[in-house]
Amino acid sequence: MKKPTIVTTRPLHPENVARALRACAKVVVAKDRPDFERQIAKADAIITYVDDPVAAPLLSKAPSLRVVGNYAVGVNNIDLRTCARRGIPVVNTPDVLTRATAELTLALLLAAARRLPEGEQMCRRNQFKGWAPDMLLGQELEGRRALLVGKGRIGSETAKLFRGIGLKVDWITRKDTASEIAKKLRQAQILSLHIPLNEDNYHWLNAERIRLLPRECIVLNSSRGPLIDERALIDALKNRRIFAAGLDVYEHEPKIPAGLKRLPNVVLLPHLGSATARAREGMALMVVQGVLEVLGGKRPRNQVDFDLDLYGP
Ligand code: DGY
Repeated sequence: MKKPTIVTTRPLHPENVARALRACAKVVVAKDRPDFERQIAKADAIITYVDDPVAAPLLSKAPSLRVVGNYAVGVNNIDLRTCARRGIPVVNTPDVLTRATAELTLALLLAAARRLPEGEQMCRRNQFKGWAPDMLLGQELEGRRALLVGKGRIGSETAKLFRGIGLKVDWITRKDTASEIAKKLRQAQILSLHIPLNEDNYHWLNAERIRLLPRECIVLNSSRGPLIDERALIDALKNRRIFAAGLDVYEHEPKIPAGLKRLPNVVLLPHLGSATARAREGMALMVVQGVLEVLGGKRPRNQVDFDLDLYGP
């Protein structure tokens, strides 16, 4: 039987999963974006990544495409409406990266609360001249109120870790009204975002909402950059209207604005949420299995529910 053609933008990691995939499919790794756009013409499936936009013009070049496999849980890089209209299922990688992302969110919180980047820089720049009672004082977290936006898999796992260090956890979910959201934001000492990026959630945290946060608030984002109006956040951090932020994602990734990089009260990471060997192997296995199942005529458990994922957190 003829092997299906799977076109992708990067070699699949880890190699043991890539090898297994090559055993049952012809895998074409595109050299660059124009090459991907050419190769997609013969694709039965594509495997894409967070930074690969899969929009209608690209999909129109793929007449035989039967499935999109996204090596990520977030599917904001994919035009789900067009896929739904064309009857092309999308598979993603839920669950396997939940713990890794929640742990990274906790790491961001601890780093921001205890001013770890400032301490690190002080050491590396030979500015540590000895212990001092008032040096780099941060926040103790026990008993603080954390407000988590989104009660999905990663939000729930993060809540578990936050409770483990003594935080009180409250939520914003899609049921909250504007005035309930405002009331919760006024009390949030930690605000952590765990919603998908879609049309409704763009700039969820905007200047108006940032103004409601108390001065001691720490803002965390390990979801998607455009959920936050980055300019408004920079302004608030600069003017100490909030205490700090911990960011793993950016509005125009991989660009990080100079205004953010200059600030001492922000922890900056390069989209590391799922960057553990365990999570990445799980993601590779899951995306491969999902793609092969669709090609084999089955409905995989990691097939994106178009109705759910198109609208709201
Ligand atoms: C995801 O899975 O959505 C992550 O952002 C990629 O690591």
